[in-house]
Amino acid sequence: MAEDKGIIAELFWKINEPKDKNNMDDLEKKHTPVLEFPAKVKKGEAFELGVKVGSMPHPMQNAHFIQFVDLFVDGLYFTRVNFTPVVTEPKAKISVILSAGKEISAVIRCNLHGLWKSSYPIRVE
Ligand SMILES: [Fe+2]
Repeated sequence: MAEDKGIIAELFWKINEPKDKNNMDDLEKKHTPVLEFPAKVKKGEAFELGVKVGSMPHPMQNAHFIQFVDLFVDGLYFTRVNFTPVVTEPKAKISVILSAGKEISAVIRCNLHGLWKSSYPIRVE
């Protein structure tokens, strides 16, 4: 394994998800991606997908920051947003066009605390 530079290995080398979405601890609140979009979207029409990390602000300093968020529909990757410490916040709005899909997922990576995932149901009609 590469030299540890503050990485929390037990979190970094797996995909983390909150144990209980309705009762998250501060670590989970700071890392779990939050997605906002209409509950029902029209097939083939653009809609706005908002993503932020997380429900509690996460540091964006050089030593500790959110590197990116990857987005998936039904487990298939469709885009990535990269973030830069100090000059960006870990949030974005993206115009998305789907022809099908039942679930949108996001996976973020913190440079110290690793990958964190959340999934949301969506209706594409
Ligand atoms: Fe972190």
